[in-house]
Amino acid sequence: MRELKGSSLEERDRISQFIQAFQRDNIDFLEGIREEAQKEAVPIIRDETAALLRVCLEMKKPKSILELGTAVGYSGLLMLDSLKGKTKLCTVENFPERIIKAGENFAKSPYNSAIRLLEGDGGEILERLVKEREHFDFVFLDAAKAQYPLWLPKILELLNPEGVLFCDNILQENLLLESRFFVERRQRTIHKRMREFLWMLKENPELENSIIPIGDGVSISIKKS
Ligand SMILES: C[S@@+](CC[C@H](N)C(=O)[O-])C[C@H]1O[C@@H](n2cnc3c(N)ncnc32)[C@H](O)[C@@H]1O
Repeated sequence: MRELKGSSLEERDRISQFIQAFQRDNIDFLEGIREEAQKEAVPIIRDETAALLRVCLEMKKPKSILELGTAVGYSGLLMLDSLKGKTKLCTVENFPERIIKAGENFAKSPYNSAIRLLEGDGGEILERLVKEREHFDFVFLDAAKAQYPLWLPKILELLNPEGVLFCDNILQENLLLESRFFVERRQRTIHKRMREFLWMLKENPELENSIIPIGDGVSISIKKS
């Protein structure tokens, strides 16, 4: 079992490198943020996942985006850069140092006036946004992975009909493929919650879903009108 997992990881890295070789470079401003984030070990979206996200945004052309998991603002700015500032971004982060850095990166960007940076726990902020009757055309879910099934009902309330929900790290380094009996104790919660999340997507008649094994696994769902 271990051996098989090891070789499939190697294969996945080869596929990632191959895909990345055919991707366009970032503009300098974004590349600077990406490099600094990597140096500081801030987890940010992988390049091949970012390319898929850009394509989805180009297809959907959302007027409003909700992002859960700002980190230092890299993916938020990447999304606004794709749409050339014709979109409003509401982005949520709870880690104080990252909030400060994201604020600085946003302020230096051409998109600062299009961004609402909300500080605090994603679950609480989702509730607040529902109370404020906010709605979004596109949600990028990239924060506390174990919270995904708990946050999903609120996210779907906030999503407009024909809106898109794009979730990263769905496969958790392929942990999700393992039977729960093979999963180490410390990983059991994330394994259980992420599988539960995928079942919730599958069972929801409002949604059309696709799970894509790119990067760390992405799910894309459309809320049917
Ligand atoms: C993978 S990073 C986001 C990366 C970012 N989307 C990018 O690609 O540039 C996930 C972020 O979610 C934040 N986070 C984790 N749990 C959270 C919660 N309950 N509420 C808000 N943010 C949370 C973490 O602090 C972290 O910065």
